[in-house]
Amino acid sequence: MTDLKTPNPEAESRLVELRSIVEPIQLAQLFQKPQPLEVELGSGDASFLLEYARQNPATNFIGVERLLGRLQKLDRKGRRLGLANLRGIRIESAYFLRYLLPPHSVTALHIYFPDPWPKKKHRRHRLIGGPFPALARQALAPGGTVFLRTDDPDYFQQMIEVFGSALGFKPIETPSGLAEITTDFERDFHAQGIPTLRAAYRQWPLTQLALS
Ligand SMILES: C[S@@+](CC[C@H](N)C(=O)[O-])C[C@H]1O[C@@H](n2cnc3c(N)ncnc32)[C@H](O)[C@@H]1O
Repeated sequence: MTDLKTPNPEAESRLVELRSIVEPIQLAQLFQKPQPLEVELGSGDASFLLEYARQNPATNFIGVERLLGRLQKLDRKGRRLGLANLRGIRIESAYFLRYLLPPHSVTALHIYFPDPWPKKKHRRHRLIGGPFPALARQALAPGGTVFLRTDDPDYFQQMIEVFGSALGFKPIETPSGLAEITTDFERDFHAQGIPTLRAAYRQWPLTQLALS
């Protein structure tokens, strides 16, 4: 794995070379400072993460993306901006959550415009399906939040059904400062006049849910 702790913000790659695909990643080796961690799944060209990481230097961020070309943009621009709190990992999102992310290590998961798989017979490929809340619960620290955005009304309906029926999550408003940071796909949709939808769910300890 690249030693990302060496203090040369321009030269060091922001991309993480995984040493193992079965052992959880060592977060202390990825970042210079131990800080709260947020993760974007399917980070694309990292337009959201680059701006969000710039605005929040006291938080660490990981972008998870399967396409190398898109991760290379995160790397190039992350170096140019001198972002010490941003890393990219090339891996499949659900696998990352299940096997590589240390449990309860993340304060927020961002999933923006995940592939919609609009054909009925392909919907089983959607990331936000029945098994996802359990993966999110495993990843999130207590009180952590899942932030969702999509342009696809059918997928949005699925998202709110999946989280609405999952134990341990409550809907919350997306903070306006976060909603204002748009993604590349979001800007394209808005430029074409296509409306987009968003939702957020905070993880609540099951004992507190029983009392509320
Ligand atoms: C529609 S794009 C949205 C990108 C970005 N979030 C945005 O809003 O601009 C979806 C991205 O997720 C990536 N992706 C799709 N499925 C994935 C998976 N299972 N694991 C990791 N990345 C995935 C795609 O390669 C693509 O870059």
